Amino acid sequence: MRDNERVRIISAENSGFCFGVRRAVDTVTELRKKTDKRLYTIGELIHNRIFVERLEEQNVFCVEEEDLPALEAEKDNIVLVVRAHGIRKELVQYLDSIGFEYINATCPYVERIHDIVDKNTCDASLLVIMGDKMHPEVVGTKSYSHCESCVCSDEKELEETLKERLSGSNDSFVLTSQTTYNNEKYVNCQKLSEKLYTNSKIFDTICSVTEKRQNEVVALSKQSDVVLVIGGKKSSNTTKLYEISARYCAAAYLLEKADDLNESEISQLCKRKLSQKNTVFTVGITAGASTPDDILEEVKVRLTERLRFASDETNNMSTVINDNMSFEEMLDASFKRLRAGETVKGIVTSVTPTEVHLDLGVKYTGIIPHSEMTMDSSAKLEDLVKKDDEIEAVVIKPNDAEGTILLSKIKIDAAKYWDEIESAEAEGEILTGKVVETTKGGIAVLAKNVRVFIPISQTTLPRREEAYEEKDLAVFMGKEVSFKIISVEKARKRVVGSMRAAARVEREAAEAKFWETAEEGMKFTGKVKSITSYGAFVDLGGVDGMVHVSELSWKRIKNPSEVVSVGDEIDVFIKALDKENKKISLGYKVDAENPWTILSEKYNVEDVVEVKVVSLTPFGAFAEVIPGIDGLIHISQISNKKVAKPADELSIGDVVTAKITAIDYDDKRVSLSMRALLEPEEAVEEVVEEAVETVEETTDAE
Ligand code: F3S
Repeated sequence: MRDNERVRIISAENSGFCFGVRRAVDTVTELRKKTDKRLYTIGELIHNRIFVERLEEQNVFCVEEEDLPALEAEKDNIVLVVRAHGIRKELVQYLDSIGFEYINATCPYVERIHDIVDKNTCDASLLVIMGDKMHPEVVGTKSYSHCESCVCSDEKELEETLKERLSGSNDSFVLTSQTTYNNEKYVNCQKLSEKLYTNSKIFDTICSVTEKRQNEVVALSKQSDVVLVIGGKKSSNTTKLYEISARYCAAAYLLEKADDLNESEISQLCKRKLSQKNTVFTVGITAGASTPDDILEEVKVRLTERLRFASDETNNMSTVINDNMSFEEMLDASFKRLRAGETVKGIVTSVTPTEVHLDLGVKYTGIIPHSEMTMDSSAKLEDLVKKDDEIEAVVIKPNDAEGTILLSKIKIDAAKYWDEIESAEAEGEILTGKVVETTKGGIAVLAKNVRVFIPISQTTLPRREEAYEEKDLAVFMGKEVSFKIISVEKARKRVVGSMRAAARVEREAAEAKFWETAEEGMKFTGKVKSITSYGAFVDLGGVDGMVHVSELSWKRIKNPSEVVSVGDEIDVFIKALDKENKKISLGYKVDAENPWTILSEKYNVEDVVEVKVVSLTPFGAFAEVIPGIDGLIHISQISNKKVAKPADELSIGDVVTAKITAIDYDDKRVSLSMRALLEPEEAVEEVVEEAVETVEETTDAE
């Protein structure tokens, strides 16, 4: 100790926002930035009045459970945040049933207790929670019980309760505590329970942050002349810290802010102590888990100034104030310590949008942040894991000051899957993965939590002269793609894949399967790949077939493009197969559009129809009866007088009235007569026979 070191300020190493509070505060802060909706916390987000007022300044208001029904009508404009202490199970059900949008910022330590109570009280006779019956955390915990439950504040009340509520020593009961209950008192309660009831199930539910801070404050108080505990008066963990410090130090103060500092009293104590030779005046400072750092700092600054002044005055010299002191070694060394790099297994206790919490079977909560859970930043964690799943992970940072363990799943996955990636390369296996990034040179795909790079040339973008740019790759973003691994450099952790190679393999497999199973008459939906003057080529999924131009329509068409376009999806059937030469002829015409079907439904022999002359021949005129069917008006049936050639009486495009005198569905012929409408019926029959004979002769001659 230096001569002029007469005052020492020792700050507890673990003070101020704990992990659970920091998480809740960060949740609201982030949410405030992201949404314009009204934000409400259900109950005080944390038990610190000053902080709650600061939230109000940012338009984040606290709403009590009973006020929620009044907000139902406006629920679409509201986001609720569940406080760090959690809420009752029934309230969660209510929020879900109404459809309120809410974010759960319940501390994982509190959720762990909910889980313990939920799973262990089905067969129990009684649940006892050591804590404050009015505290929201305890109220919430009770709601998860499946048996009778009660809250006891101390050992005496616990003993009385057990004797009164349990009928025999064989009755089973479950003992838990509020996360911030006094550790020393809880150890005594546990011993008592074990002594009285062998059937008791006792759970260690004081959060490690609380336990650590309480242990620290004992050591701090024992060596301090004054202890300052800073925090909200409603805060359970703050008041516990104060109670403990008051037990070991005669001058313990609980203050919410710097203005509450009793400067004159502390100054007097300081002066009194320093008036004795070779003494040091020691002040210990700690803060509750919901105390913002700036309040703690302000108290320290104010105190330091005041003590320097008091000390200088007393000693008539400049005083050194030492506030460097570690409590690391004072902590309970009996904790099981997990080492970085160690592999652990845990059960998922909760999943939030940003992290997964694991019960590792030790006092610490395992936390896997999103970035350590998956390399896909757009993935939703709730789609990857769910509560009660078992997860293997590797420890990144053990036993940090907040009693949490930072874990990584991707590191363990990468190690586990690396062998699979190598064997996939060796065996030419086709893998699938989600495209998570585009770069100038290609796309990054995530497969088995390993990042695989696919160069542009190996994607399925069609080849073209002009170079592709990164924006062209956007079509793949977020999609599941198939690829084959074409190179693995384990040392550089570089894997290259090819979608083209996979597409080739898939095409070959599809082709082989097609030829194995294909039969005439089979129907397919295919995509028109290309068009020529004689037909359209259709991709049937690995193999191409051709629809001849005559097969595309019942009508006479000159080019397939009159009916189909490249890229069209069309329904086709196999007309003929040439397995040896791998040729497929496809049919496309739809029966419902068959003009002979339409004709049979619409017309009969003897019907009089209006027809349009479409061509003239020496033996007669062809006229369209319906689209796709032209009937013949034989030269002898054009008029009731002798006609030298059809062109003398008719022109292409003329619309004339004629009688259907015959329909031959087998040979697809229709005979028409204009003369029949001019002559008596008896004559017509002769003429019809004559006309049919002439058509047959003419067709045969063709
Ligand atoms: Fe959670 Fe413990 Fe803090 S229960 S809110 S980490 S004091």
